[in-house]
Amino acid sequence: METIVNTARAVNTLISLSQANEAKFLQSITGLCAAAEFSDEITGQHILRVNRYSELMARTMAMEKNTCIWIGQVAAIHDIGKVAIPHIIKLERKLTARERREMEMHTIVGALILDKMMELHVEEPRMELARSIALNHHQRFDGKGYPGLSKSNGELIKLKSRENEAYEGLSPLKGKQIPVIDLIVSLADIYDALRSKRQYKAPFSHQEALKLIRLDDRSGSTGEQVFSKEVFEAFMDNHQAFDEIFLSMSSNALNRS
Ligand SMILES: [Fe+2]
Ligand SMILES: [Fe+2]
Repeated sequence: METIVNTARAVNTLISLSQANEAKFLQSITGLCAAAEFSDEITGQHILRVNRYSELMARTMAMEKNTCIWIGQVAAIHDIGKVAIPHIIKLERKLTARERREMEMHTIVGALILDKMMELHVEEPRMELARSIALNHHQRFDGKGYPGLSKSNGELIKLKSRENEAYEGLSPLKGKQIPVIDLIVSLADIYDALRSKRQYKAPFSHQEALKLIRLDDRSGSTGEQVFSKEVFEAFMDNHQAFDEIFLSMSSNALNRS
């Protein structure tokens, strides 16, 4: 009897420890996300909504249970690299070509920050997921995104430098080179940006955002070209739920339904 009681105590202690570790992990991820968004005009609700849309998409696409939970925890980290470019984020005018290249480096910086963190969280699979999201959330399925990471022979480079010269002449990822998770977060981020008020734009309604994701009338790109057929179709199957998440997680009254 005593053995059973002791075993139960040991199990409870282990559960408490793992719950405490889990809380610490989520706390450090949320703190990082908040730091990244601090100098941006984006509110904390944006990053939490991106988590929710992304998890919804993963479930719609019948991804593995843990993947669905994890993407709902770490999608928010996509712009962690913006901590390195507060001077660019604050600009209220169109960026010059040089500034634009510097802004695009937030993807590389984000991945390098997560590389550093992974030196501590060796056994944490969510960190790999977070790194991939930070690095690739501006890639496009048609290969017209950024950053350049692929040599002419298709070989992917290893990240070393945060200077944009190191990535000149390289191609962005394309098609199946881009993890589906990263395309999901890309769509979630873009949908939320369209719905939100920013310095340079008024908030769009759900129907306007839907129309622009289906066909961007400025670039002529379709949703399938940007996000892939499977991700775009999963969004179209569930777009109403995106609207519900947006409305239920928006405390400011600046948004139109
Ligand atoms: Fe970004
Ligand atoms: Fe974002």
